[in-house]
Amino acid sequence: MPLQEIDPPAIEVFDLTRSYNGVPAVEKISFQVPHGSVLGLLGPNGAGKTTTIKMLTTLLPPTSGTAMVCGYDIVQAPSYVRRTIGYVPQLLSADGDLSGYENLLLSGKLYGLPRQQREKRIREVLDFMGLKEAAHQLVNHYSGGMIRRLEIAQALLHLPKVLFLDEPTVGLDPAARQVLWHRIQVLREQYGTTILLTTHDMDEADLLCDMVAFMHLGHIVTMDTPAKLKAMVGPQATLNNVFMHYTGTSIKEGDTYTHVKQRRRAIAHRG
Ligand SMILES: Nc1ncnc2c1ncn2[C@@H]1O[C@H](COP(=O)(O)OP(=O)(O)O)[C@@H](O)[C@H]1O
Ligand SMILES: [Mg+2]
Repeated sequence: MPLQEIDPPAIEVFDLTRSYNGVPAVEKISFQVPHGSVLGLLGPNGAGKTTTIKMLTTLLPPTSGTAMVCGYDIVQAPSYVRRTIGYVPQLLSADGDLSGYENLLLSGKLYGLPRQQREKRIREVLDFMGLKEAAHQLVNHYSGGMIRRLEIAQALLHLPKVLFLDEPTVGLDPAARQVLWHRIQVLREQYGTTILLTTHDMDEADLLCDMVAFMHLGHIVTMDTPAKLKAMVGPQATLNNVFMHYTGTSIKEGDTYTHVKQRRRAIAHRG
């Protein structure tokens, strides 16, 4: 039997749930991500994307349910999970008062890379993310796109099998976004890295993702390939039309924070 058939999927999620003060932010979601593929979690602000990523990266314990990353249970074996993943948070994580190189050195130490290997890997990731020339400049002088690429470089130092990117291109101009898209595609093609990214950018999801899962009020409302989802809704449909079809609201306009909170409370009380 070919190895792939007996290998567990890169990510398997079983009824994963997380509540804050009794209000569910993510409720009984289940899905799988095969090795070497890219899954996009799409949804407006407050849908539960970051909460999902925080549970899968072991930073936040689930209220119930669980998930496996590369065969390791996020609840039972969090330290094994952490060794196999890279994580780029939604909020700024690089230190502006240090150079790109110094930021990478810190990450290398954090991941426990041996000294000789550290230097070599830092050079490789700087090169891979197109930051060789800027390596010794202070991050405060980097553009938004360069900072994002540095943060991804930090997450790649220990050659993770699965990479989590929380809104990697939010706030970037179109040119910087395209550079990042290309890097993500090469990463997947050259290294076979499994990638789970969140976004509310439909073009990004369409271009990068093998599968997309639409999140709305803590639930996955539908999940399939971008092409199949669009075909189901209509011949000229965009991914935004798909989201509207399932939720009655546009992903772009989204719900306001208060709106989402009120509706989530209502749902919680109903259940
Ligand atoms: N630490 C927290 N305490 C209380 N509520 C939270 C916390 N983090 C997130 N939430 C709530 O959980 C819901 C989902 O948030 P989040 O996972 O950040 O969504 P997204 O990343 O899709 O914007 C939101 O209603 C948000 O207000
Ligand atoms: Mg978020």
